[in-house]
Amino acid sequence: MDINTFFKKQNTKNQVKILTCGSVDDGKSTLIGRLLFDSKSIFHDQISQAEYESEKYGTQGKDIDLALLIDGLQAEREQGITIDVAYRYFETQKCKFIIADTPGHEEYTRNMATGASNSDVGIVLIDSTKGILDQTKRHTFILSLLGIRHIVIAINKMDLVNYDKDIFSKITKKFEIISTNFDFTSKDYIPMSALKGDNVFRVSKNMPWYKKETLINTLENLKLTKDNKNDNFCMPVQWVNRSTSNFRGYSGTVVSGSININDKIYITTSSEVAKINQIIAPEGSIKNATNGQAVTLTLDKEIDISRGDLITSNLDNIKITDQFAAHIIWMNKDKMLPERNYIFRFTNSYITGKITDLVHKININSYEKIASKSLKLNDIGYCKIALSRKTFIQSYKDNNQLGSFVIIDQFNNLTVGAGVIDYELRRASNISWHEMSVDKVKRSKMNSQKPCVLWFTGLSGSGKSTIANILEQKLHDLNKRTYLLDGDNIRHGLNKDLGFTDEDRVENIRRVSEVAKLMTDAGLITLVSFISPFKSERKMARDLFKDNEFVEIFVDTPLEECQSRDPKGLYKKARSGILKNFTGIDSDYEAPSDPEIKLKTLLKNPEELADEVLDFLKVNNII
Ligand code: ADX
Repeated sequence: MDINTFFKKQNTKNQVKILTCGSVDDGKSTLIGRLLFDSKSIFHDQISQAEYESEKYGTQGKDIDLALLIDGLQAEREQGITIDVAYRYFETQKCKFIIADTPGHEEYTRNMATGASNSDVGIVLIDSTKGILDQTKRHTFILSLLGIRHIVIAINKMDLVNYDKDIFSKITKKFEIISTNFDFTSKDYIPMSALKGDNVFRVSKNMPWYKKETLINTLENLKLTKDNKNDNFCMPVQWVNRSTSNFRGYSGTVVSGSININDKIYITTSSEVAKINQIIAPEGSIKNATNGQAVTLTLDKEIDISRGDLITSNLDNIKITDQFAAHIIWMNKDKMLPERNYIFRFTNSYITGKITDLVHKININSYEKIASKSLKLNDIGYCKIALSRKTFIQSYKDNNQLGSFVIIDQFNNLTVGAGVIDYELRRASNISWHEMSVDKVKRSKMNSQKPCVLWFTGLSGSGKSTIANILEQKLHDLNKRTYLLDGDNIRHGLNKDLGFTDEDRVENIRRVSEVAKLMTDAGLITLVSFISPFKSERKMARDLFKDNEFVEIFVDTPLEECQSRDPKGLYKKARSGILKNFTGIDSDYEAPSDPEIKLKTLLKNPEELADEVLDFLKVNNII
C-alpha cells in the first residue's frame, strides 16, 4: 500500500468510542492495557517502564503487569484504584478506537457518567470469580439512561475459573434477566482473560466451546447507527463582543451540531431569526463551526441578544422553563434532601434550584421504582426540579448537552450529583404575581416600624424561646407589632405532619420561613424560634429577605449545658435511645459561622440577652 492510500484509509476508518465500566479489581486497567498492547499502540519505552514498575507495584509476580501499562496517575498506582476518566487511543486495520477508562470505585460513578455521555458502546466488565455485583447493575442502568445502545459484557478472569463454560453461562443468564427491560440494540457476551489475552485479540484455545467473535472483532463489527440527537446547532452565548463601535459578535462554544455562513439561526428567548454573516475562530474567519469549537458569530442584522441566550438552528423541542423532570444520580456522602437549595450547572450557567419531589428511587437490584424521601450516595432517582429562574433545556434523548446537568453543593462547590432531563414541567406556570395597592411600605409606615425577621437558632434547651418571649414582651411594651413563631407551637398545627428526620426538618424550616416572609410583608417584627439545625436551610430562609431584614441570632449554649438543663427531659430520653434523631445527640446541629448576633447564655441571664438584641435593633435603626 502506498503512503497516500494508507493515509486515505486512515481517514475513512470508522471511529468507535468505548466506555469501560466495572468494579474495582474487575480487571479494567488490565483489559485496556491488553487492547493497547495487542494493537501495538504501546511504545517500547513504556513497556520497559511497565516492566520496571511491575516489579515495584505489580500484582503479577515477575510477569509484566498490563494494568501498569496504563499511564495512570501515580496515586492510582499506589492506592490500587483508578480515580479519574482518562482517554486512550488505539487502532486496528479496520477501526480507530477511543476508550474512556473510568474508575470502578463506588464513589466515582460520576466519572463514569461523564465518560458515558459520549460513547458508542459500553464494555461491562464482570469478574467471573465474583459474578454480577450491585455496581454491575448500577452501571448497566446508567449506560441505558445515558442512551448507550450497544453493550459488550466482558466476562473476565476466565483463567481463574478453569475456563469453565458453566460459569460463563450462569453469568450470561443472570445478566439477561437483569437487562431484559433495557433497550440495548446489541448485547454481546464474551468470555475472556484480559491478562492472558484470551478472546481479546486472539481466539482462545482454552475455550473451544465459545464459537463467537473475539472482543476486538465484536467492536469492529458493531453496526453503529448515527443517531439524530445533537444534530441541531446550539451555542449558548457566553459573551457579547463589542470590541469596536460597529462590531457586534456573539462568543461561545458550540455544544451541538454545526453551522455555516448564511445559515438561518434563532434566538431562544426572543424567537428572532437572523443569518450568520461571519464565523470567527482564534485563527481567523472560518466557513463552518462544529461541536466543541469556541467561536464568535456575527449576524446579518441587529437583534437583541445577551449573555445566557441560546443561538440555535432549530427551536423545536428547546424549552425555556424553570421546572423539569429528570433522573439523577447522587454522588455525595451527605444525602440528597428534597427542598434543599443546590446549584444546578447547565452548559454555561449556574442556577440555584431544588429537587421539589423525589418521585421514586430505583432499586438497583430489581430496577423497581421504590418510594423514598431522599437519595444516598450512588442512589439513582427520578425527580422533579424547580430552578430559581428560567433557562433553556432539552430532553436528554434529543440533546445530551442541553439535556444534562451537574448538581453542586452551594457551600463547598463539590459536585454532589448529575442528571439527565426527561421533560419540561409546566406546573403553576399560569400563575402570576398580583401587585397589591396596600403594600409592605404602607403597612410599615402605619405601624411606625421596619418589619424584619429575628431568627433564633440553637440547640433544644438553649434558651431560644425564653429569650424570644422576653424580647417580644419588650417590643410589645414599646408599641411594636410583633409575632413569635415558635418551633414547638407551629408543630402543633401547620407542621403537625412533620417529624424530626433531616427531610422533615428541611420542610419544617421551608414552611416557617415562608410564613415569616408573609408576616414581614404584613409589616410585623417576626420572631422565629426554631432549632433550624442546618446552615443550608437557614441560608434558604435568609435568601427570602432583603439584606437588612434578616437578623440571625445564634443562641450559643454548649450541648453539655443544654443536657444538664434538659427542661423537657428530652435529652435523657434521647441518650437512652427512646427518642431518635435528637439534635446534638444523633442528629447534627451546624452552628452558624457568621450570625448577626451571638448570645452567650452562660455569661448573661435571658433578660440581659433580650436587651442585647434590643440594642442591636436600635443601633441598626430597625426600631
Ligand atoms: S427543627 O430542628 O425542625 O428546627 P423545631 O424547632 O421545629 O426543630 O422543634 C424543636 C422542638 O421539638 C424541641 O425544642 C423539642 O422540644 C422538640 N423535639 C422533639 N423531638 C425532637 C428531636 N428529635 N430533635 C429536636 N427536638 C425535638
